[in-house]
Amino acid sequence: MTLRNLLVPVALLVASSTCAAEPTVSFTRDIVPLFARECAFCHSKDAADSGLVLEGRFAYRMIVDVPSIESPLMRVTPGKPEQSYLLLKMQNQHRTVGGTGRKMPPGWLEVVPSEVELVKAWILAGAPEN
Ligand code: HEC
Repeated sequence: MTLRNLLVPVALLVASSTCAAEPTVSFTRDIVPLFARECAFCHSKDAADSGLVLEGRFAYRMIVDVPSIESPLMRVTPGKPEQSYLLLKMQNQHRTVGGTGRKMPPGWLEVVPSEVELVKAWILAGAPEN
C-alpha cells in the first residue's frame, strides 16, 4: 500500500468526524426566523417593547453584549447561556438573577423546547453573527 492510499481514507475520516461533532447554529438561518416567528410581532421597529427590536438583521446589534434594561445582565453574553438575560426570559428563569416582568413570549404564548435549545446552542457557540 502506498502512503497516498493510506492517507486519503484517514483524511476523509477526520473530516467527517469533525463535521459530525460540531453542528453549527447559524444566526441568519436559525435564530432570525425563530425571532420572526415568536418575538418580532411585539419586538418590531414600529412598536419595540422594552426598546428591543428582534427583527431581521437589527436583532444582532440589539442583543449581543448589550445591557438588559430589566436586569444587571447582558441580553446575550457570548459563550455564557446562564449570563444571557434573553435566554433566561425564554426559560422563565429571569427572576433568579434579579430580573423583572414576564417570561418570553408572555402569557399563553409558548416556544417549543427545541427553540430554547437552539438559542442556548447559539450562545454557547459564542453567539456568532453567521
Ligand atoms: C406579546 C408581546 C411580546 C412577545 C411575543 C415577546 N415579547 Fe419580549 N417583551 C415584551 C414586553 C411588553 C416586555 C417588557 C415587560 C416584561 O418584561 O414583561 C418584553 C421584554 C423582553 C426582554 C427584556 C429586555 C431587557 O432589555 O431587559 C427580552 C430579553 C425579551 N422581551 C425577549 C423576547 C424574546 C426572545 C421573545 C420571543 C421568544 C419575546 N420577547 C416575545 C413583549 C413581548
